[in-house]
Amino acid sequence: MVTFNSRPAQLPIWRLLILCFASLGLSLQAWAAPDARQSTLLVNNCAQCHARPDTGAPFMGRKEDWREAVARGEGAMLINVVQGIRGMPPLGYCSACTEEDFRVLIRMMAGLPDDSADSKGEQQ
Ligand code: HEC
Repeated sequence: MVTFNSRPAQLPIWRLLILCFASLGLSLQAWAAPDARQSTLLVNNCAQCHARPDTGAPFMGRKEDWREAVARGEGAMLINVVQGIRGMPPLGYCSACTEEDFRVLIRMMAGLPDDSADSKGEQQ
């Protein structure tokens, strides 16, 4: 009875370990992507204009819309987002966004490579 009971009890521990490693791997892979909070900020603010073609805002992920801004650089884009520029309202209406949030969102929307481009030796 004891051996019968102890055997199945070991399986879930291994499964749990595998699950831990799997989720660790997943979170490491996703470190540069917007997290859940940033995705919500994006949907509730930026996407109202940047996911609608009739607003004059560069369309999310459409490279040609972002070419000019990207050429000016991420820093210049960040300043324009914070201060606003023409149809782009200051902070993009996102008063809850931090500087890091803006950087992640800008990179994502403009189709820029994530942080790993800055840190040497981080090539795929
Ligand atoms: C009310 C509509 C609106 C909202 C909301 C909005 N944008 Fe914009 N955004 C625009 C428009 C319009 C432009 C184009 C401005 C221009 O160059 O004429 C723009 C341009 C930009 C640019 C390019 C700036 C540059 O340097 O050319 C970035 C980056 C950007 N938006 C990021 C964001 C982010 C991040 C958010 C959310 C936090 C956001 N926007 C929310 C309308 C909006």
